[in-house]
Amino acid sequence: MNLKQEAAQRALNFVQDGMCLGLGSGSTSAYFVDMLGERWQKGELRHIRAVPTSQATAEQAQRWGIPLATLAELTQLDLVVDGADEVDPDLNLIKGLGKALLREKIVEIHARQFVVIVDESKLTQHLGSHVPLPVEFVRFAAQSHIRWLNSLGCRAEQWFEDGKPVITDNGNFLALCHFEETGGIPDVTHLAQELAERPGIVEHGLFLGMAQRVVVAGQQGVRLLERGS
Ligand code: A5P
Repeated sequence: MNLKQEAAQRALNFVQDGMCLGLGSGSTSAYFVDMLGERWQKGELRHIRAVPTSQATAEQAQRWGIPLATLAELTQLDLVVDGADEVDPDLNLIKGLGKALLREKIVEIHARQFVVIVDESKLTQHLGSHVPLPVEFVRFAAQSHIRWLNSLGCRAEQWFEDGKPVITDNGNFLALCHFEETGGIPDVTHLAQELAERPGIVEHGLFLGMAQRVVVAGQQGVRLLERGS
C-alpha cells in the first residue's frame, strides 16, 4: 500500500452507517472512494449518501453503486474527506491542483467534520512554497484577470494542458499563481480577501480554517493532526 492509500484507509475509520458524506477529488480521494465503494458493495456500510466534488468523483462513486445526493437534498454533511496540495501547521490548505477547487469548497463548507488525507510530502511551513495556488476565473476578460493576478506579488499564468486552456466542471478557466520563487504566500488571509473581492475571480484554492483533522501518512506511520491541538 502506498502512503496515499494508507491515509485514505485511516479516514475510512471515521465513516459510520447512516452518514451523509462529501467525496473529494484527486488521486488520494480516489483511493478513499474505492475503499468506501468496496465496503459498500460488501454490505459493511448501510444507509450512506454522498455528495461528490467533481464529475470524475461522481462517476467513480456511481461505478461502485454508492448512492449520490445533492446539496439541495442534504443541508449538512456529517463527514467530508478530501486531499490537499499543501497543508501548513495551522491546517490551512492549498487545494485545486486536481481542478475541482470550487465544488470542493462549496461541499466542504457544509461539513460538520472535514478530514483531509495526505502523504507527508504535502506538509509545509508556508503555503505556496512548493506548489502554485490555483484560481478559478470566468472566461470573459481572461487576460485582464491574469494581469491583475500578476499584480499580487506572484507570477500568474493561465493553466494550459496540451496547448489548450484547462476548463473546469463549471465551464471556467484556471490560473496558477506561483509564489514558490519568493518562499510562499506572505499573508494568506489578506490574499484570500483580495481574491474574494475581485469581480471575475470565481474561487481560489486557499482553504483557511476549514479542516478539522488531517491524516498524514509518512514513512514512520500514519498520524492525525487536529485543529487547535
Ligand atoms: C482537487 O482539486 C484537489 O484539491 C486535490 O484534493 C488535491 O489536488 C490533491 O490531489 P492528490 O490527492 O492527487 O495529490
